[in-house]
Amino acid sequence: MEWIDVAAFDTLPDGGVRGFEVAGRPVALVRQGAVVHALHDICSHQFAFLSDGVVEDGCLECPLHQGRFCLKTGKAMGGPVDAPVATYAAKVEGGRVLVCLD
Ligand code: FES
Repeated sequence: MEWIDVAAFDTLPDGGVRGFEVAGRPVALVRQGAVVHALHDICSHQFAFLSDGVVEDGCLECPLHQGRFCLKTGKAMGGPVDAPVATYAAKVEGGRVLVCLD
């Protein structure tokens, strides 16, 4: 398992989302308190960055047509989306957020 250092934990807004490119892959990091979720940052419906959307009720909502994806599993939870988005393992160590794309 290769862990990639992505960002300082304290630069992530609590309850919010930020987009990053991790080893060439778009990744959305969502912070909820001490926990960070990592999801593929492109919607499974059409082309939109999920990191331009909002976090609500345990989901990340796409800014384009309001498709919703579970933060933990990436499962499609509502709106026009059927397909999930990938999720990645994420952890916080020494004040840094690390993501594994394996
Ligand atoms: Fe995301 Fe349509 S592009 S819901």
